[in-house]
Amino acid sequence: MGARGTEIIQLANAPALAERAGEELLARAARAIADHGAFRIALSGGSTPRVVYAWLAEQAQRADFAHWHVFFGDERCVPPDHADSNFRMAHQVWLARGLVPAGQVHRIRGELDAFKAATEYERELALAFGTRDAPRFDVVLLGLGTDGHTASRCPDCSALAETRSFVASTWVEKLGAHRVTLTLRAINAAHCAMFLVAGSDKADALGAVFGGADVPASRVRPWDGELLWLVDRAAASGLLNDD
Ligand code: 6PG
Repeated sequence: MGARGTEIIQLANAPALAERAGEELLARAARAIADHGAFRIALSGGSTPRVVYAWLAEQAQRADFAHWHVFFGDERCVPPDHADSNFRMAHQVWLARGLVPAGQVHRIRGELDAFKAATEYERELALAFGTRDAPRFDVVLLGLGTDGHTASRCPDCSALAETRSFVASTWVEKLGAHRVTLTLRAINAAHCAMFLVAGSDKADALGAVFGGADVPASRVRPWDGELLWLVDRAAASGLLNDD
């Protein structure tokens, strides 16, 4: 079964993209909470989603954050207070406000050895989702690297070959760093994979994905879920218009 639906929505610019992403998340959260009492989201790192998290922090009156469960799609192997930490970024602009109960924020412990952190997080997902089968996130937020990577599934890294686990540790040669990442098996189990792509520097990568190139991001196709691309006009400049 392929992705229930692939949709690409073009926004004028990065602020408009962030607001639309926030509204999409609030709507999906309301549906998920009404349906099964919780909204489980895996956050992306990087600069694009940071604006979305800051937007969410201002929506305390509209969001039922008490029923949100926040996970991370990947993490750099650094302590949580390190400038490169994805957790630190989301915590600074949103989670520090305590709107989401602390016990419902599931950090990847980047301060550990990468393999140990990945193994621990796999266990944490099994506990949080109550199953050793694939954790089915309501939304997995994803960014797109200029080389077509997403989460920490980078070209030529070992995480791409992982077909059994839901969390993998990987060495990223280009960065000279270890990372911990959800694997494709976990990402494609999501009810919705939502890409946030802004900026002209992403135009080639986005064009490659939609042009059929086999880059890591191209493999994201939830087997029973939605695939939603939120892109700004600058990033979409490399896409041929249908009409
Ligand atoms: C990370 C992200 C990574 C990111 C892309 C795009 O930990 O860095 O998971 O995959 O989403 O590199 O990053 P920007 O949105 O900052 O361009």
